[in-house]
Amino acid sequence: MFVRPMGKAWVKARRHDRFYRAAKKQAYRSRAAIKLSQIDRRYGLFHEGAVVVDLGAAPGGWSQVARERVGPKGRVLAVDVAAFVPLDGVEFLRGDFRDPKVQALLFERLRDPADMVMSDMAPKLSGTRAVDVARALDLADAALSFAVRALRPGGIFLTKVFQGEGYREFLKQVSGHFEFVKGVKPSSSTERSAERYVLADGRL
Ligand SMILES: C[S@@+](CC[C@H](N)C(=O)[O-])C[C@H]1O[C@@H](n2cnc3c(N)ncnc32)[C@H](O)[C@@H]1O
Repeated sequence: MFVRPMGKAWVKARRHDRFYRAAKKQAYRSRAAIKLSQIDRRYGLFHEGAVVVDLGAAPGGWSQVARERVGPKGRVLAVDVAAFVPLDGVEFLRGDFRDPKVQALLFERLRDPADMVMSDMAPKLSGTRAVDVARALDLADAALSFAVRALRPGGIFLTKVFQGEGYREFLKQVSGHFEFVKGVKPSSSTERSAERYVLADGRL
């Protein structure tokens, strides 16, 4: 009988499948929902009644998690350049987040300062690592500028980045606006990918 060797790649693939299955089982729209749940369990991102802005929200896994955590008194405002199948209790705005008109509309809809701004925005991958790292950092940078203006003092910012050139500088830049800054990599994020999350708490 042929026994398949349980190589590292196979073990990893199976583990990641586990997160895919977990997302499906909980009826989340994306595997990314599990990453946010893991970060939340560890660091306690949400509270009942919180106002949350979700940048790069489609297909909607993060918005689902936020919706569950903030409860009926909270608000979730989601933005994406791609289409978004409506989700109960999630206010969606379609457009390129970097467009000043889209940001102006978002501020208008927000009305009050947000408790949390989270961004899982990712560029279309070019296949050239340096280009993808730089594009992801540009998006994270745009999310940071918005978060600094949109958050209440003490608010939380979470953003996806790709580790590489500019990552350390970005952490430093975020540190200038928050009391606590940390790079996090949930176990559900594929180990060999450059994906990281920057978590910042306590907007100054
Ligand atoms: C990894 S997916 C987000 C997954 C989402 N967090 C979830 O749980 O379903 C990245 C998203 O970022 C969006 N995106 C990328 N650049 C954007 C931009 N400039 N403005 C708005 N959305 C953008 C993409 O359209 C894509 O839907």
